[in-house]
Formats: sequence, structure tokens, C-alpha cells
Amino acid sequence: MLERGQILQFREPPFAFPTVDQEFLRNQEWAELRMHKNVSYRPGEDVLRGVSGDANTVERVHSIMRNYSARVIEFVGDFLSPYKEKWNLDFASFRPLEEAGRDLPLHKRNDLLHVDAFPSRPTQGGRILRVFTNLNTTRPRVWNTTENFETLAHKYAKPAGLQQIAEDDSFLTRTVQNLGAKLGITAARTPYDMFMLRFHDYLKENTALQTKGPKTEMAFPPSATWMVFTDCVAHAVMSGQYAIEQTFLIPPKALVAPDAAPYRILEGLAGRPLVG
Ligand code: SIN
Ligand code: FE
Repeated sequence: MLERGQILQFREPPFAFPTVDQEFLRNQEWAELRMHKNVSYRPGEDVLRGVSGDANTVERVHSIMRNYSARVIEFVGDFLSPYKEKWNLDFASFRPLEEAGRDLPLHKRNDLLHVDAFPSRPTQGGRILRVFTNLNTTRPRVWNTTENFETLAHKYAKPAGLQQIAEDDSFLTRTVQNLGAKLGITAARTPYDMFMLRFHDYLKENTALQTKGPKTEMAFPPSATWMVFTDCVAHAVMSGQYAIEQTFLIPPKALVAPDAAPYRILEGLAGRPLVG
């Protein structure tokens, strides 16, 4: 059901998350960090980004993020065991700024409906699973969602340029990508990855969808923890402050409902393979 676009919510985090750690994250002076979209932690390399300040504070935030990430990974490994260790661990992030009324460039705005796609981390058909926790003690984190991926793809994949991307066998495109992959700058970007980046931007640019499209509001209360494949569930965050999140990339061979994967739906529409 997750792979088919359902959101699973827990009323409390289903893993240990010490209250003192939650308080420490909330109580920092994050205003000075407006340069960064958020604080990120890379579990593979144990690297923290987006925090400045005195060494003790940075070290404490680092250890909180390290422990949080490890506990989520442990929980997801048990709870969604078909994915365990077949995943690629992506980043964890802490989002300390109020989401309502943020002044960001259009493609970076998270209050516009979009599917997730990461420019620097092509998934080659793999899926983006995210586990969020609302660390706010009084206010919900409010999302809008809209129609499911299949419906959105039927309406918008063509105008977003699916066919051109699917049929672009150009030597130059391939050479540039393969070169990047060889130099270790990027994993090879498949036509699927290129389309999903385009689709992310296209949906944010689509004023009709954003203003008149069907919307379902979801309010995740304090302490709620929710899991969602954000590559198929178009979402927008309308308000809320202090969320923490861990992302997993689930490769096609680990999926339990591969027919529901966005790459398969798009391949059906394009009539061509888009990965591999
Ligand atoms: C996103 O659009 O991926 C961010 C959602 C959130 O921070 O709640
Ligand atoms: Fe998103």
C-alpha cells in the first residue's frame, strides 16, 4: 500500500527518540541558518551539514542526528523487512524553519505540489521512501496532497515532455552523463531520472494544478511519524516547524509492488524503457 501511494501514520515515533534530544533541536538559534534549506546528515559517511556555531553545539547536533538516523534505519529494517539492506541510505534532515510564508525561488518552494526528485542523486528507477516526525510540541505539520501518480502522469507526463526525454538517444546527452558517472560526480542519470526532475519542476510551474487542482489536506499532529513514497505522492507542505526526516532509496529489485513504481507507469505511457 505504501508503494501504491498510501501514507502510513504513527501517532508517536515507533522508535526511541529521547525528549532531551528533541528539545535540544528545537531550542537552537536556527534563524542564523537561513542560508541553508535545512540541516542534513549522511548516515553512510557520518557527515553533518548546515550547522554552524560553537564546536560543542555542532557535536551535540551531530550525535543527535546520528542516533536518530540509526534508530529509524533499525526500525524500518524490521518493519519493512523486504527493503532491509537492499536500500541505499540517503540523507536525514532536520527542518527548523516555519514553512508558511517562506520566500524561496519557485522550483525550491515546498508549498507547491510536487513529486520528489533529487538532482544530485539519480535513483535509476529506485524509489524515494521518507520517514518524517513532527517535533513541534503544539502545532501540526500541514501537507496538501492531490491525485495519485498514475492520474497525474496520465494528465501531465506528455505536456511535461516525457516523449522527448524517452526518445533522446543523443550521443551528447549520453556522453556527458557517462563522463559524470565515470568521474564519480554522479551516478548515471537514466531517462527516468531526467523525466522526474522535469516533472518536479513542471508540476510546480503548473498554476492551474496549484490553484485549482484537487487537494486533500493532511495535518500531522505533534509527535506524529509518517512514512510515504514521495516520488509518487505529490505533496506540498503548507505550515509547520521542526520536522525531522530520514530518506531511503529503494532499488527496483527490492520493491514488493514493482508494477506501481513510477518508472513502470511512465514506461507504459512512453512505450519505451526508461531505466537501465
Ligand atoms: C518536501 O516537500 O519534501 C518537504 C516536506 C516537509 O518538509 O514536510
Ligand atoms: Fe518534497
